[in-house]
Amino acid sequence: MNLVFASSNLHKLREIADILGPGFTLLSLKDIGCKEDIPEPWPTLEDNALAKARYVNVRYGLDCFADDTGLEVEALDGKPGVMSARYAGPGKNSRDNMLKLLEELKGETNRRARFRAVIALIHYGQEFLFEGIVNGHLTHQPSGEGGFGYDPIFIPEGYDQTFGALSPGIKNSISHRYRAIEKLVQFLKKNS
Ligand code: IMP
Repeated sequence: MNLVFASSNLHKLREIADILGPGFTLLSLKDIGCKEDIPEPWPTLEDNALAKARYVNVRYGLDCFADDTGLEVEALDGKPGVMSARYAGPGKNSRDNMLKLLEELKGETNRRARFRAVIALIHYGQEFLFEGIVNGHLTHQPSGEGGFGYDPIFIPEGYDQTFGALSPGIKNSISHRYRAIEKLVQFLKKNS
């Protein structure tokens, strides 16, 4: 089955292709000839994921899915959340975002956090949402070279290493994205 994923994030494309396995062919924005950066200015993950999926659906006439993900930190009332990608401000990178977060949590003993992924699917013109959550806690300093984004400071529940240090196979079998994609796949199996 061909699936259009409205993203040009290569890390995510690779993770999702691994999770989906050989029964699915994942097409990226580049594969469908879309070179634009799709805006995601909305206040919730759900709104942003839907906006990205609608953007592709309207302009390219294709069914597709899109995701938006945030790291939600309990002691910061859910921040950075929907602002996770640009937490340290425009022009800053993932390392800047992590360092800003660690600085804000200096002296904080409640390190509980979760990744929440929301997938919006447009399927035969109808919209559906799927959510995946992985709970865990934040370290005091980055560790591990793998993954991307906040992976080096997030230890998932039941493990003692960060997503940055765990193998991609382990991350992809327990992650927020895996949990949301599993729901998407079950839905597609029932409804295709
Ligand atoms: P996006 O808007 O869905 O691309 O994700 C927002 C930000 O959340 C990204 O720029 C990353 O910093 C972070 N993020 C998303 N998924 C992950 C993940 O699996 N691990 C670590 N950070 C992530």
